Amino acid sequence: MAARAADLLGSAKDRTLKDMQTREQSAPFPHTLLLANFYAGKSWPSTGPTFERRNPANDRDLVCVAPQSSVEEVRAACLAAKESASAWARTPAPQRAEVLGRLVFLLTREKETLARFVSREIGKPLREARGSVQEAIDTAVFFQSEGRRLYGQTVPSELPDKELFTYRRPLGVVGVITAGNFPIAVPAWKIIPAILCGNAVVWKPSDDAPGTAELFLRAWLRAGLPPSVLSVVHGSGKDGAGQFLVDQVDGGSLAKISFTGSTSVGRRIGEICGRNLQQPSLELGGKNPLLILADADIDLAVDGALWASFGTAGQRCTSAGNIIVDRRVMPLVREKLVRRARALKIGDPSNPSVDYGPMINQRFMEGFLRQRETGLDDGAELLLDGRRILPGEEPEHFSGDAALGLYAAPRIFDKVTMSMRIAQEECFGPTINLVEVDGFEAAMAAANGTPYGLSSAIYTRDARAMLRFKEEISAGMSSINNSTTGAEAHLPFGGNGWSGNGTRESGVWVLDAYTRWQAVNVDLSGKLQKAQIDISAASLPDPEELEAILPPRQ
Ligand code: UN1
Repeated sequence: MAARAADLLGSAKDRTLKDMQTREQSAPFPHTLLLANFYAGKSWPSTGPTFERRNPANDRDLVCVAPQSSVEEVRAACLAAKESASAWARTPAPQRAEVLGRLVFLLTREKETLARFVSREIGKPLREARGSVQEAIDTAVFFQSEGRRLYGQTVPSELPDKELFTYRRPLGVVGVITAGNFPIAVPAWKIIPAILCGNAVVWKPSDDAPGTAELFLRAWLRAGLPPSVLSVVHGSGKDGAGQFLVDQVDGGSLAKISFTGSTSVGRRIGEICGRNLQQPSLELGGKNPLLILADADIDLAVDGALWASFGTAGQRCTSAGNIIVDRRVMPLVREKLVRRARALKIGDPSNPSVDYGPMINQRFMEGFLRQRETGLDDGAELLLDGRRILPGEEPEHFSGDAALGLYAAPRIFDKVTMSMRIAQEECFGPTINLVEVDGFEAAMAAANGTPYGLSSAIYTRDARAMLRFKEEISAGMSSINNSTTGAEAHLPFGGNGWSGNGTRESGVWVLDAYTRWQAVNVDLSGKLQKAQIDISAASLPDPEELEAILPPRQ
């Protein structure tokens, strides 16, 4: 049987963790977690305002109550982290990585409990929730061994008896701000390499997923992380803990912000970091194209489009927004997509046959409903209406409780052109835009016709089309005969244009985001050797002398 979430990774005799409180609720719901901030190595039970997180599939299920942190609390967390950062930076990297080994063990052992909690807190179908816990495990596995590399280089010097080296050095304290749709995988992408590289982290998790953040924090502490290295401050983004954390960049206690969220918030963070001459990691929105060429395997492409657009109820930054289809196969694609989308099973995310669960929050639901009006205003045609599922209007196969959950029916817009707002603006929700094009060039123009550039996909059997797509698409990630979602944990993840500022998550590439290079030279010659100036000391023959020994010119 799955453990109670409150017991997860902790026991009554565990001093660091025992201040986690729970509130008993009447059956059938599990316990409500009463969360505290965690910084300076200890819990700070809330004395001020709090916020609630409710299960989006069932509004009566109060998942947790968390503090709405004040400016003072966030500042205190950052200052405490700054004090502890240098001790962690001095801990040898292979020892830092030992913590990751134990984290892998704990996350693997508790995968089912964590996945069930993620599913309860944000409404992700259980098999997807398991996948996102696995993504965190994979990331920890990768960086555990990186602790025994974290390579610098030896570089030849232009002068004798002199050595040159490069070292990766930690930045200091990193402020991490994450979204709620991947509440353990995306934080893991950031926090694991940041900590492995020797930084301290202050994390403001999404207010949609504060409970998952608590469980992740507990896993770190149980794995033996010195408690002052990872801090968690809860609250909202705008005008709350997120804003207060970013303000600490101006305050001087943070060396970096790593953010996943909207392009508009990313821009503001970029401005604040820019004026402090810092480079943030910004993983922002997407309007991801999925191309279906005339020669594509249509059933495979429809499978990919359905998963890319309706998986996670379309609430991924990698969800496909525009399905760009060659006119020769459009009737077939349209017919199959509509038929398959109508048959999607929506409902209770713990039901294993469900294709997608509820919307994560009211804000996403409102954006999804607004997109319907925008599309109709712009002249697009609705093939599937895509409204909120209300009691009494539940579709066939629906397994949730429409009175208590935030459910959305699938939407398909037809006759979409790239100049329409719905083709240009990101929308979280189960919605597809069908864009008809004539041939490869037109498909590429449409695919590159938004300011975003996160993920992309093409379905074709033509090797040259695959090659040209790879070379010409303006996205950071491209799939060939696969959907736009489903990045693996050791490939660089990130986008171009409005999708980010060029930084990448995952794999070796992310090391550059959490370290700075130090160049060191050691002169063993015992005299002042001046680079670029004393190079004549090198014992190469003088070209004029060489002239004398060469055979005479003919
Ligand atoms: C996100 O939506 O912010 O590639 C991350 C994917 C997932 C991660 C998505 N592995 O869809």
